[in-house]
Amino acid sequence: MRYLFLLHALLVVAVISIGGIRGSKFDRPPVEIFPDMDSMDHVRAQTPSAFFADGMASREPVEGTVPIGHQLPNSPLASGAHPSLDGFTALDDSYLNTGRFGDFWGTGLPEELGLTNENIDAFLRRGQERYNIYCAICHGESGNGQGVIRFAGFANIANLHDSRYQPENYADGDFYDAITHGRGLMGAYGDKLTIRDRWAVLAWTRLLQETERGIAADDPAIRELVPETPDTASAD
Ligand code: HEC
Repeated sequence: MRYLFLLHALLVVAVISIGGIRGSKFDRPPVEIFPDMDSMDHVRAQTPSAFFADGMASREPVEGTVPIGHQLPNSPLASGAHPSLDGFTALDDSYLNTGRFGDFWGTGLPEELGLTNENIDAFLRRGQERYNIYCAICHGESGNGQGVIRFAGFANIANLHDSRYQPENYADGDFYDAITHGRGLMGAYGDKLTIRDRWAVLAWTRLLQETERGIAADDPAIRELVPETPDTASAD
């Protein structure tokens, strides 16, 4: 019985000493067994600080980084690119964006690309680069449909040198639409290639076709890639 009293008394002391002072305020800092990063060195914005060499507490963003919630600096559109050429989404149903004139596929490179004899080479080189990045894995660098992916078992890749894909049988607009939205087993590239780049890939592929048909790459026929006025061909 005596032990029971003693135990009870000890229990009361223990409960009061552990729980009883919770919520009370103290002047001195508490003993922190697990500090949990409760207190850290910090500075107030816009105040001086002796810590940094320039004497300012606030820091400039680290070069090459973008603070959360801020626009990417020098993104193509912010630095003057044209949304209807350098964007991914068609802004209207013009030939440039859809490859169609109303119900018909058009043929020829759209005027909006602003191609001239001076910039056509850079345009084609851009097309070649994009083609080799995005298309060659399947269609092969020459366009013959023998890209490396065949060895992984991907069959029925279109041979772009087939007569059905030649300009006289396959309108440029139709081709452009196949790149933008994909066809059959082929995925869409409208979200990976800008509008300008899709036309550049098309122009490069036409050049591959012409080369395959025996027209040398430095032939003036390449200049015909820049049409005076686009023709129209019937859509499917
Ligand atoms: C993952 C493999 C793959 C990639 C990458 C690929 N293609 Fe294809 N492409 C195919 C296959 C497969 C077909 C045949 C589609 C069908 O008929 O089902 C095809 C068909 C086509 C056609 C004919 C479409 C039609 O109207 O019948 C064109 C043109 C074409 N591709 C161009 C391109 C271009 C340009 C690129 C790069 C932007 C590209 N492809 C990237 C697999 C690919």
